Amino acid sequence: MTYKKLELVEDLREQLKFLKEIGVDSLSVDLPVRTAEPPRETAHDDFQTYVPAKNEFKAETKQNREAGRKDVRRRSEILQNYKLSERKQSAESPKSPESQPPKEKIPEVTDTIEKTESPEESLFGDLSRGLPDTNESLSDIHKDIGSDCERCRLCEKRTQVVHSVGDPQADLMFIGEAPGADEDVQGEPFVGRAGQLLNKIIEAIDLKREDVFIGNINRCRPPDNRRPLADEAEVCKPFLLREISVVRPKVIVVLGNTACQNLLDTKVGITRLRGKFLDYFGVRVMPTFHPAYLLRDPRKKREVWEDMKKVREELNRQNASDS
Ligand code: URA
Repeated sequence: MTYKKLELVEDLREQLKFLKEIGVDSLSVDLPVRTAEPPRETAHDDFQTYVPAKNEFKAETKQNREAGRKDVRRRSEILQNYKLSERKQSAESPKSPESQPPKEKIPEVTDTIEKTESPEESLFGDLSRGLPDTNESLSDIHKDIGSDCERCRLCEKRTQVVHSVGDPQADLMFIGEAPGADEDVQGEPFVGRAGQLLNKIIEAIDLKREDVFIGNINRCRPPDNRRPLADEAEVCKPFLLREISVVRPKVIVVLGNTACQNLLDTKVGITRLRGKFLDYFGVRVMPTFHPAYLLRDPRKKREVWEDMKKVREELNRQNASDS
């Protein structure tokens, strides 16, 4: 058999393995037939992958900053809640400007995603350093948020605040964008159809849902399943970053375009970012497609499976070097 054919057989073997792992036990299923263009990556029906032109990007950043400035009261509230020691330390040792990569460059494995703000301006200081030390607990953070949080307009239509769940000492963390209808009712992230698929993805790398930590950038359901807006993400993300500092996962998998762009503060799209590890606060971050997108385009499961194999290998590597 030629090398090319062997490669195809190997591909097929991987795909069959993945199908089996996600519960397909017979091949009499109707496999999707390639039609025209595949749908673009989107967590909810109305989402589009959006890689803005440079001038749009600048305009949006400026607009976001202005929105941020307007809400000084909210921001100082977050600052008060933000108890991590790193903020002071970072402000004392600002990074040199030349170490900041251009915003739209595709980051390489060892790259750190940089914030555009200077360390003094940033809530989190210099992101290229490791995770800040903290002695707060997850319940301290949840208490700070409060069940009646009104820090952004998403409070108006949500049923409840949906906090992250899972093992507080998990090696692996998953981050999505915001609760959907099921999560809003049940008060737990990823419990709907996308959540069921996420459970299978977790099991495909020999872990269980209880072994990992699962959260969202935004904790309240956006009305009509719309994408959370930049100012809504800005006000909620600090709490997630505090949770990351408590859990200290070895690897973070960030799910889908919106979560990826919000977490990493980048406009580079998920299609270009997925499949390569990025460094974020010293934690390895793997961007991959959102499970809701896989429900819409099951052909993309193959890529997610490739990404998850890398995650498994990275966890094995770190576990081996720990022992
Ligand atoms: N989609 C998300 O991004 N998060 C959830 O919790 C559920 C669906």
